[in-house]
Amino acid sequence: MRSYTEEISRRRTFAIISHPDAGKTTLTEKLLLYGGAINLAGSVKGKRTARHAVSDWMEIEKQRGISVTSSVLQFKYNGYCINILDTPGHEDFSEDTYRTLMAADSAVMVIDGSKGVEKQTIKLFKVCVMRNIPIITFVNKMDRDAKNPFDLLEEIENVLGISTYPVNWPIGSGKEFKGVFDRNTEKILAFTANNGQKEVEKTEYALDDPALDEVLGQYLRADFMDEIELLDGAGDAFDLDAVREGRLTPVFFGSALTNFGVEPFLEQFLQLTTSPLTRETVSGKVDPMSEDFSAFVFKIQANMNKAHRDRVAFMRICSGRFEKNMEVFHVQGNRKMRLSQPQQIMAQEREIVDEAYAGDIIGVFDPGIFSIGDTICSAGNKVQFQGIPTFAPEHFARVRQKDTMKRKQFIKGTNQIAQEGAIQIFQELDAGMEEVIVGVVGVLQFDVLKYRLENEYNVEIIMENLPYEYIRWIVNDELDPKTLDLASDTKRIQDLKGNYLLLFTSLWSIDWALDHNKGLQLREFGTN
Ligand code: G4P
Repeated sequence: MRSYTEEISRRRTFAIISHPDAGKTTLTEKLLLYGGAINLAGSVKGKRTARHAVSDWMEIEKQRGISVTSSVLQFKYNGYCINILDTPGHEDFSEDTYRTLMAADSAVMVIDGSKGVEKQTIKLFKVCVMRNIPIITFVNKMDRDAKNPFDLLEEIENVLGISTYPVNWPIGSGKEFKGVFDRNTEKILAFTANNGQKEVEKTEYALDDPALDEVLGQYLRADFMDEIELLDGAGDAFDLDAVREGRLTPVFFGSALTNFGVEPFLEQFLQLTTSPLTRETVSGKVDPMSEDFSAFVFKIQANMNKAHRDRVAFMRICSGRFEKNMEVFHVQGNRKMRLSQPQQIMAQEREIVDEAYAGDIIGVFDPGIFSIGDTICSAGNKVQFQGIPTFAPEHFARVRQKDTMKRKQFIKGTNQIAQEGAIQIFQELDAGMEEVIVGVVGVLQFDVLKYRLENEYNVEIIMENLPYEYIRWIVNDELDPKTLDLASDTKRIQDLKGNYLLLFTSLWSIDWALDHNKGLQLREFGTN
């Protein structure tokens, strides 16, 4: 039996971020293979379909062939208990991904070696940086023609603004890919393609091994020796503190598809990252090893099981231990409760959990009481986590119900969907609730809203797209927005909590507002 602190110490909770198609799913699959969570490569690929079985909550998902939801996968490896937070790759769901990152203690950034740093990676990366969590880079697809590794490192440094430390170094790429040089052991691991099995044939060579001439070819070997010399002068020195604070990213080169370099990556990743991190509350920090249970809701997913019309709230445990049927306190609801049907998702199965520890994610049945960012804690230990930032929506529409008799359902539907974090709703100043302004991060969410209101709440809506592109929360507490001097295309609105905001059509009108209203302070993120 492991002690309570051993259980927490062995936990690693991370998210994998990437631009779609960089290889996130493939890498996840290979990691699960090592953890024995799946037996055969290919089962997660089937994930595109199998995942629907888990999260088959919306036709849209099937129609568009994308995964709307993010799930959590847990597996054990070498004594570690690993939670991978899977993030939807589609940019229309990036807000969900941003929130998922709030629940992670570190991130793996997968980059396609032939493409370098892509748009979606930049966005996700910014969220990781905001939290100062370790970011470990996996440059994937080295079995295909890749960019020069020095250029790739420079791109990561310049575009993302983080220092890099290559842990290994690729020798050639594409048809010429010969393997990687491990800078720590100073050995070359020769490339062997392996499409499925867990055991990978390992052939290692020391740098002075005469066989290398033949393995690499004289030409590539000479190039490679030059590169290693350059390497020691390039990049930054290894500094574990800088890694832990998210200032330096260790970089691994490999090929997820052929299962090359994945296991060494996993092993070192576990060393480079830490057990669950301390979390901030409004009144100080919470130590994960504390015996008091605490967790926060980072995701709410509706209708995971259509037959039951249920909602599942996913919470990240930040401290202590969770036991089935224990009494907890819901801070925002100000009441004691028992969490019902706590479950964990292991690979593709949902299982009821009897106990879980800091670092784990559990999903609980939500009768409609939780909102994103809510705190749940043991009854005797009332803490409140700092809210999860609300990311600035980029698309806006005015929405009202077709049939005015459906007012109640319309309000309930829009409010519940907003509580889940799928949309944000606002009102024009002095307007009633029968018409709202909806803001979304990705336009597909408008379709989701329309579909769900029709199917779950039986309300048809009229949606009118609005030309705004930027939203800012007004920081100044006492300010009456009506007194502001604004450009004619700027709109004053408020959120459900009564905070005032401004909608702008261009960055120019933001500058105009700031120039014409001395002391006005605007913020891009809100908090739940
Ligand atoms: P994602 O989750 O980040 O969106 O990417 P995913 O793993 O689905 O990979 C995208 C495509 O890249 C897949 O091919 C996958 O097989 C391929 N891929 C992933 N890792 C590697 C690698 O290391 N080397 C090579 N050569 N290819 C890789 P696809 O054709 O889109 O899908 P499929 O037909 O293979 O299922």
